Amino acid sequence: MHIDDALTIADLKQMARARVPRMFFDYADSGSWTESTYRWNAEDLQKIKFEQRVAVDLSNRTLESTMAGRPVAMPVAIAPTGLTGMQHADGEILGAKAAEDFGIPFVLSTMSICSIEAVAEATNKPFWFQLYVMQDQDFVENLIGRAESAGCDALVLTLDLQILGQRHKDLRNGLGAPPKFGLGTLAQLASRPRWCMKMLGTKNRTFGNIVGHAKGVSNTASLSAWAAEQFDLELDWKKAEKLRKRWGRKFIVKGIMNVDDARMAADIGADAIIASNHGGRQLDGAPSSISVLESIVEAVGDRLEVHMDGGISSGQDIMRALALGAKGTYVGRAWLYGLGAGGQAGVRRTLDILHKELDLTMAFCGERDINKVGRHNLHAPLPW
Ligand code: GLV
Repeated sequence: MHIDDALTIADLKQMARARVPRMFFDYADSGSWTESTYRWNAEDLQKIKFEQRVAVDLSNRTLESTMAGRPVAMPVAIAPTGLTGMQHADGEILGAKAAEDFGIPFVLSTMSICSIEAVAEATNKPFWFQLYVMQDQDFVENLIGRAESAGCDALVLTLDLQILGQRHKDLRNGLGAPPKFGLGTLAQLASRPRWCMKMLGTKNRTFGNIVGHAKGVSNTASLSAWAAEQFDLELDWKKAEKLRKRWGRKFIVKGIMNVDDARMAADIGADAIIASNHGGRQLDGAPSSISVLESIVEAVGDRLEVHMDGGISSGQDIMRALALGAKGTYVGRAWLYGLGAGGQAGVRRTLDILHKELDLTMAFCGERDINKVGRHNLHAPLPW
């Protein structure tokens, strides 16, 4: 299948499955433990019905909006995802370029393969940087300074990964900490020759933000062990507030599933929060993010922007989140599938598919301006 023949994110997922070595494809396509929360994120979105309207002037439609003060071509950002340069050589660079061309924010993960500097060098507009807080404070300070120097205009502080949810597929595939590379791994790589050729052509093959910057970390193997030990178990709201004060630009807190936590994020001065359960990769058994979104918006929506991620795999899903009060959304797996399927053109395809689906869905609901979308566009009652 050619990338332009992909009509849905599911098509791109199928293409990615055929092109990306299984251990990395599985890394994206997995949740923790029973994967219930991973499934609920998508299932709950699909249960929400729209209110169809007719005989409405549908000319001059617009999906343009803002997220954390940044103008966006549609209220979607590319979510920070770990190990992305393993889905496709130079994955983060290609994703950042596709986002820049499209006019939406790209969020670079701390656990990226391409470094902050490599992404900055390949792009012209500022991207956002996602921070994991490590115990090594010098390293964290250094990372923030590097994001500042690279011109990143928003910091996304992730609060739901002091410890790692257990993902069985990763352990079975040898992606645990430390990784166990065996003959099975080699076979997985050998069966994806195109991926291997591209990988051989880049120097970005390890965790670019960390190796060479954190003491005692010289390669990926020692890095996984290091990361498992180094995430800051003592991260609390006081530390989060210090980071808020340290970072002079837009500050977004990710991983909020509870109204009291949402209020804490507002109290420390966050500009936005992301209602997120980490794509069902952390606390299995947590509710879907879409099902808690409205209560969070009710609690703090007048104090900061509420964004949402988790399970979004179509423009319809984006519309659902916006209708429940999200000012913006993020796609993680949807963009990784595009990337794995076809590099930068594949990510572009993801964004084109989402844009078209969102535009048509908005129109069928009788709206012309994405900023006017709200609860009235949903057919009551909600499924929960
Ligand atoms: C890291 O962010 C992960 O979810 O694997």
